[in-house]
Amino acid sequence: MLVQLPDRPNLPGPIARKLTEAYERYATEPLPEHYDTFIRDEFEIDLASEYAGFPVRSPFGKASGQLSMTRRQVEEDVNAGLGFVVLKTVIAQNETGEQSMSAWASPETKMVVEPITGRSGERGWTVSWKGRGWHRSFADYLQLIRDAREVAAESGCLIVPSCKYHLPASEGEGWNQAEYEYTTRHLWGAWSGDNADEAMPLEKDFSPTLAGDRLSDVRQQILRWLQEVPRLIKSSLPEPARQIRLGLKLFNTLFDDEFQLELLDTIHNSPHRPDYFIYGNRLFDPAREFEGKKGIAYGGPDLSDRNLFVLNRYRSHSSSAMLPLSATGNIDSGKRAVEYMLAGAENFQLHTFFQLPAKEYTCRVGNKTHKALHELYFHPELGLLAWLTHLHQQLGFESSEISLRQLVMTIANRPVLLDRNRA
Ligand SMILES: Cc1cc2nc3c(=O)[nH]c(=O)nc-3n(C[C@H](O)[C@H](O)[C@H](O)COP(=O)(O)O)c2cc1C
Repeated sequence: MLVQLPDRPNLPGPIARKLTEAYERYATEPLPEHYDTFIRDEFEIDLASEYAGFPVRSPFGKASGQLSMTRRQVEEDVNAGLGFVVLKTVIAQNETGEQSMSAWASPETKMVVEPITGRSGERGWTVSWKGRGWHRSFADYLQLIRDAREVAAESGCLIVPSCKYHLPASEGEGWNQAEYEYTTRHLWGAWSGDNADEAMPLEKDFSPTLAGDRLSDVRQQILRWLQEVPRLIKSSLPEPARQIRLGLKLFNTLFDDEFQLELLDTIHNSPHRPDYFIYGNRLFDPAREFEGKKGIAYGGPDLSDRNLFVLNRYRSHSSSAMLPLSATGNIDSGKRAVEYMLAGAENFQLHTFFQLPAKEYTCRVGNKTHKALHELYFHPELGLLAWLTHLHQQLGFESSEISLRQLVMTIANRPVLLDRNRA
């Protein structure tokens, strides 16, 4: 079944009115309780979702980056109602502190949030900056995991560490197994408190800056990474099946869309499949200058256009079931989230939309995460509630209660495909 999303959601009058009322009212006054509880009670929409098989209270999460580096940032996100928080990416090391990917552990530089226009003419936002991974100590990162777990305990918000491990530059170069082992064991120890029954979700970041690095000049090399990395990470723990759920965060290479499809094919058909994947990290422009140097990662409408095109192509061509997908890339509205959902995503992770200038949000109360969620959920024409209601009807459900999980499962099983043009 092909699903096309019209410009505006098709909503019963009373629901459209109720949404507008909520959007306007909660722009200036705090919600009586958390978004997910309020939405379940008022709109009969159950936002309970999954992240790699873990239950989470709602589908929007914070993507890894500068906005998830401290206990305080995580605490604010948990209080604002996010379903999950992916911590900043740490760079793997061995027991003596050596890092073969140390070039990625550079200190922060200023981030510049800028408007960007996509090839379709659509306007959006991108964040420009020159930093890379976590640059404080590994011990500090382990403490961040413990702190984040503590502040999120019992909240329904999942904490997800993120790591960049050693990647060999040529076929002749071996893998730095010591870094894989040391880092994975310690991440798991911090996450689980050494409770052997606690499985840790972990994102393995293949960042967009890799696209501009000589490391990823060769296609075969990238495919080899995708095949080997899950095995190396998992074999670092004595009981990987119980201790870890591993997600590969794929990047947009400088190669064509066919190669992006090959990446997806590889992770799905490799003997060492990851448990889930995150798609897809930002685009890379080798020619654009920023702070006097050429080459910068960027986002905005071209990012979501490319991601949705590739994911839809993959879903329509592949005969096997897709691994659980956490979507990332220019998720700037509930409608965009539903587009990713129709491309196979079960949850949505955002960075840029949590960082817009304050005047871009209608909501005047709470922190930026709260303001962004107000827009993402309640916007009468672009919000998630409007589009879930629309989709629920379009897929032929008659019940008054709407369940996000049920919609995700229906899309996965039928299969329902998004019919969307690319700029
Ligand atoms: C300033 C900045 C820092 C980022 N740092 C990381 C990182 O450390 N690890 C990672 O996996 N992704 C990182 N990302 C990528 C984001 O997690 C996200 O996947 C990407 O920006 C696409 O989402 P967006 O369009 O909502 O920003 C970063 C993005 C930005 C803008």
